[in-house]
This record gives sequence, C-alpha cells and structure tokens, in this order.
Amino acid sequence: MIVAIDGPAASGKGTLAKRVAVHYGLPHLDTGLLYRAVARDALAQGIDLDDAGTAAKVASGLQVATLDDPALRTVGAGEAASRVARHPAVRTALLAYQRSFANRADGAVLDGRDIGTVICPDADVKLFVNASAEVRAMRRFLELTGRGIAVSEASVLADIRARDERDLTRGSAPLVQAPDAVLLETSNLDIDAAFRAAIDLIEAAMSCAGRAG
Ligand code: CDP
Repeated sequence: MIVAIDGPAASGKGTLAKRVAVHYGLPHLDTGLLYRAVARDALAQGIDLDDAGTAAKVASGLQVATLDDPALRTVGAGEAASRVARHPAVRTALLAYQRSFANRADGAVLDGRDIGTVICPDADVKLFVNASAEVRAMRRFLELTGRGIAVSEASVLADIRARDERDLTRGSAPLVQAPDAVLLETSNLDIDAAFRAAIDLIEAAMSCAGRAG
C-alpha cells in the first residue's frame, strides 16, 4: 500500500505520516528533508540557491544517508528548501529516489507537497492535510521553542505565510490537493484525533478499492 500525504508547512503531515507508517509497519520518507538537504549542501558549497543548474547538480549528488542531520530541522533550512524546490531541474533530480522508495514491495508512506500529484499519482490512498496558517504557526512555534530554539510567534507566522506563497505559486509541482485526495482539516484536531481520522480515511479508501477490485 502506498500512502501519499501532502499539505502545507507545519500542517502536521510529517507527524501523521510517521504514525501512519508505524501503524501499518511501512517505511516512511519525509520528502521535505530531501529539499532541505539540497539547500544545506548548496549553501555549504557557496552556491546561489536561485541558480537552478548548479542547485540541480547538488541534488543529483545528494547523499540520502545525511537526511538525519539535525541542522535540517531549523527554520532557515525550511526557508532555503522552498527556494531550491522551485527549480524543475532540482525536482527532477530527486524524482527517481522518491519513486523507488515508494515502489518497495510492501509499499510506503511518503509526505511532502507533490506526492499525490507528481511522485505517486497512483498511490492507493492520498491525504491532503491542512490547517489555518495561525494554527500551523502556533504548532511550529511550540515545536521550535520545545526544542530550545528562540523564535517569536510573529516571525514563525511570517515564515509560514512566505513559504505558503512560494509553494502555492511556483510553476513546477505547486502545492495543490490532488483531485482524488481526501482533505483532512486539522485546525480543530489534536495529533491523536488527527491520527484516528487519518486511519479511518485510509481504511475507508482501502475497503472502497477492495470492493471496486
Ligand atoms: O515541515 P515543513 O512542512 O515545514 O517543511 P518540509 O515538508 O520539510 O518542506 C520544506 C520545503 O521543501 C517546502 O516549503 C517546499 O518548498 C519543499 N518541498 C517540496 O517542494 N516538495 C516536497 N515534496 C517536499 C517539500
């Protein structure tokens, strides 16, 4: 079973994807880490993040073993990721890895922005996780301050809005709900409630597919 989970920054898709993966015993790929790592490597090499060709070369040489780097979890890394993620050539360079991850024998759970639309258009289940910008900013603020990172609520909200704008308006694989994705609106749900809702939606989609097949 392939589960595609998309949504905007701090919508909770990553936490949900992790829990869904554990629940079904499937491997999980947080595809945002790929873009974060490309930006990290580009900055380390002094490359301009707006230079598509050079950023794509960095993406082609990405070592996925480095995705657990804690430096990828900062606010700056998310912002830099959304700059390299605009380049079609960067996205193309990362496509094969994501597809091969998804197409493992038992399936996988992937989360990102374009999983249901571009990476796994034939995923068995597609969820689009959303929440208001204010709720997402509050969640990210609590997450960052909980990790001892000093930020203001206002700056987190501004970052979320800037990334929404960049992710929604870019020409290549913009953030959009796939026509066959189910919307999971989590503004009024805590993580346990969102997780239960996600499992219910996945079970419903799988039983529908079972009946159809
Ligand atoms: O955790 P959060 O939602 O804040 O960010 P992320 O999922 O790690 O993604 C960071 C940035 O990478 C996003 O703002 C997107 O610009 C980009 N991204 C993308 O374009 N496509 C994906 N499949 C995943 C992330």
